Amino acid sequence: MGDSKNLWGGRFTGEADRGFVDFNRSFGFDRRLFAADVRASVAHCNSLASAGVLTGEEATKINGGLQTILDRGTAAGYFDNLESEDVHSFVEARLVELIGDTGRKLHTGRSRNDQVATDLRLWLREAVDDLFQRVGTTQGALLDLAEAHLGTVLPGYTHLQRAQPILFAHWCLAYFEMLSRDRERLEDCRKRVNVLPLGSAALAGTSYPIDRESVARELGFDSVSRNSIDAVSDRDFCVEFVSAGSLIMVHLSRLAEDVILYATAEFGFFELSDAVATGSSLMPQKKNPDSMELVRGKAGRVFGHGTSLLAMLKGLPLAYNKDMQEDKEAVFDSFDTVSACLGVTETVLRNLSVNEERTRDAASTGYMNATELADYLVRKGTSFREAHEIVGRIVVHAIARGLELHELSIEEMRSLSTSIEDDVLVSLSLERTLGTKSQTGGTSPECVTDSLAVARRSLTS
Ligand code: ARG
Repeated sequence: MGDSKNLWGGRFTGEADRGFVDFNRSFGFDRRLFAADVRASVAHCNSLASAGVLTGEEATKINGGLQTILDRGTAAGYFDNLESEDVHSFVEARLVELIGDTGRKLHTGRSRNDQVATDLRLWLREAVDDLFQRVGTTQGALLDLAEAHLGTVLPGYTHLQRAQPILFAHWCLAYFEMLSRDRERLEDCRKRVNVLPLGSAALAGTSYPIDRESVARELGFDSVSRNSIDAVSDRDFCVEFVSAGSLIMVHLSRLAEDVILYATAEFGFFELSDAVATGSSLMPQKKNPDSMELVRGKAGRVFGHGTSLLAMLKGLPLAYNKDMQEDKEAVFDSFDTVSACLGVTETVLRNLSVNEERTRDAASTGYMNATELADYLVRKGTSFREAHEIVGRIVVHAIARGLELHELSIEEMRSLSTSIEDDVLVSLSLERTLGTKSQTGGTSPECVTDSLAVARRSLTS
């Protein structure tokens, strides 16, 4: 089923170089636009019929042919015709093959320039919706994990040094928040994806009286593009999509890094399930977090696609240029990568074991309650700066004694500040340390329970 003729026969007398023909071809990857291309073609055909450019009979014949092609597209081997230059010429060639010369009327008033922009937007709209769902599913896994470990504490870090204790659920909710912003970005990106370019033709607009608004309605677009030159040369929406995907990857990669680190013997907080870990071919004891390492590693690939798109677009004169054919692989691979990483991350989260004893132990040692002692002194009337200084000295004293703050005697502490009294021990407890962080967004159990409920509602609304 080779497409012997190309789409511009008349002007050419010479044969194209075989190497160039292969180089020029996009069918190997843009076949992913097949269903969108057929769908947009049906809408275009209907608009030509309404405008009186095609007779009702011709339109019926064309649409019937397109429907057959769409059905055949689900069968194995249909796309093995690698001779086509791109998906648009493939569909048109199949149509002419199927219904004869009437098929040659479909391209009236349209160019592959507005066609490809329309197809890509239709495809991307679904991709955005799909990712939106998938991000939500991964968020659901974070909430389930948090709810399964409501009483679990974790040491919180800054500079990767022990800082203050936090609830494990609070850590889960931090990633939940990042992913919520990602969903907002996808929703926002969708607005600019969902604009119809068809009817812009090659660049100047069409001379056929088609009703673009009705084409937009038929294809589910919110509006029609306002400038034909811009419509065929705009790929901002691709950049926005890959940017939104890049931030999702930043977030997944940071989560991956936390999980990898916490699963080391040195931390010993988490254990990955066998379902998402690998062993070593040499070292029998190993359990490697390949799943999370790949998520971290694949982030760079999506960032790279963003850079490719920006570099591809920045020097282009108006309007369409073939450089823009490079947009598709960047967009497709970004979608595939982000989607796969969300899926694997969800599996990791759903099967993660948390060593609660170990995390509690880690959260109770290393002077993580030092800030609490300073706050205690502030409550007793000391200025924060002075309290900070005093507690610093108490910490030095405790380090020298090889003890935690709450293991020092009241007398020892009082030798550095007479404001310290018996009630200090309650203030230094892990429960109190967590419980005092009770302002909105804090890690107290009440706040975290509230946040979990709000998070759960945001997923279902
Ligand atoms: N395969 C092309 C692309 O992906 C389709 C548009 C071709 N337009 C053209 N004027 N050659 O951009």
